[in-house]
Amino acid sequence: MPVITCIDDLKRLYRRRVPRMFYDYAESGSYTEQTFRDNVTDFARLRLRQKVAVDMTNRSTRTTLIGQDAAMPVALAPVGMTGMQCADGEIKAARAAAAFGVPYTLSTMSICSIEEVAAHSPAPFWFQLYVMRDEDFVDRIIERARVAGCSALVLTLDLQILGQRHKDLRNGLSAPPKLTLPVLADLATRWRWGMEMLRTKRRFFGNIVGHAKGVADPSSLMSWTADQFDPQLDWSKIARIRDRWGGKFILKGILDEDDARRAADFGADAIVVSNHGGRQLDGALSSIRRLPGILRAVGDGVEVHMDGGVRSGQDVLKAVALGARGVWIGRAYVYGLGAMGQAGVATALEVIRKELDTTMALCGERDVHNLGRHNLMIPKDFE
Ligand code: FNR
Repeated sequence: MPVITCIDDLKRLYRRRVPRMFYDYAESGSYTEQTFRDNVTDFARLRLRQKVAVDMTNRSTRTTLIGQDAAMPVALAPVGMTGMQCADGEIKAARAAAAFGVPYTLSTMSICSIEEVAAHSPAPFWFQLYVMRDEDFVDRIIERARVAGCSALVLTLDLQILGQRHKDLRNGLSAPPKLTLPVLADLATRWRWGMEMLRTKRRFFGNIVGHAKGVADPSSLMSWTADQFDPQLDWSKIARIRDRWGGKFILKGILDEDDARRAADFGADAIVVSNHGGRQLDGALSSIRRLPGILRAVGDGVEVHMDGGVRSGQDVLKAVALGARGVWIGRAYVYGLGAMGQAGVATALEVIRKELDTTMALCGERDVHNLGRHNLMIPKDFE
C-alpha cells in the first residue's frame, strides 16, 4: 500500500487506476480551462500569518453547517458519475463522509440512486438537484429525496446550459463507456476497475433510469439529460422548488453580488460561491477571489459556503479565514475514491483535517471559529 501524505498522492494513484475517460471527465474544465486552473492557483496567492508562543492544546475543528453538526467545516460536493470512478462510488463516498462526520451531497447525475445511497449510508445526506424541463420529473425526484430522509436540498443554478469540455467530446464520454478499441486498450491496463464494475449492477444514472419519460434505452440517458437542463430557469422556478421541498435549502453556483443578495432574500439556508469547479463559464474569476465581495454583499443574512480548487487543509483554512462557513470539496475526494474506494475518501478527509488542524496551530488558533482575516495576507485584487 503506497504511503499517502497529501491529496496529490491520491491523484497520482487515481490516474493510474481509473480509465482515462473518467479521469479526464473529473480533471478538466470547460474550454481553455482558465477558471479551472485559477481556482487552484489563486489559493496560493493568499498567504498565512504565523503566530508563536500561544498555548495550542485542545484544538477544535468542529462546527455546524446549516445548523447540522460537522467534524470540520467541509462538505463533499455533488459530483456526477461518481459511480464510474469506482463501483458503487456514491455509496462509498456517503459512507466515508458519514463515518467522518461531514455532509455528503448526492448529485442528480449519480450512478447510484437516492434510494440505494439511503439504504447503505448510516447518516442523512444532502441531495443536489438540477432544474429539468420536465416539472413532473423534478417534483417526483424532490419527493424521493424527502422520502429517503435527505437533510437538505442543494439547487445548482450555474448549469442551465452545458459548458463544453473538450476532453469529454474527444473521449466520447458515456456511462457505461462504449467499448471502442481505444477504450478496450485503456481498460486492459485498468482491469481491476473493470472487474469491480462488472460485479456491480449499477452502471446507469440511477436517479433517472426508469423515471425519465420516453427513455427506453439506458444508454440514451446522457443525451436525454443534456436536453433536459432547463434554459428557462429563473427565480420563479427556484421559488416553486423551494416551496415544494420546504426543508433546508442551499443555492449553489453563485459568483455575483446581486445574485447572492437575491438568494439570501429568498430564504436560502446557505449559498455556495462556486463556478462549478471551472466547468461552466470559462473566464470567470476563481471562487476564492469572488468570496470577499459576496460576503460583503450578503452580510450576516445567509451562511456563505464556497468550493473550487480546494486541495488541502491550508486551502480550507484560507477560505474559512476569509469568512466562508463551509468549504466543499469535489475533486479532492474523487481522487481518493478512484485511488482506494471508501478508504480513499476517508484518507482524503483525514489528510485535510490534519492539515487544517496543524495549520490552525501554526497560525496561533485553537478553534476554527476564531479564524479570521487577521490570519491572512490578502492580495488587493481579492477585495
Ligand atoms: C462536478 N460538479 C457538480 N456540481 C453539481 O452541482 N452537480 C453535479 O452533478 C456536478 N458534477 C461534477 C462532476 C465532476 C467530475 C466535477 C469535478 C464537478 C461541481 C462540484 O459540485 C463542485 O462545484 C466542484 O467540483 C468544486 O471544485 P473542485 O473542488 O473539484 O476543484
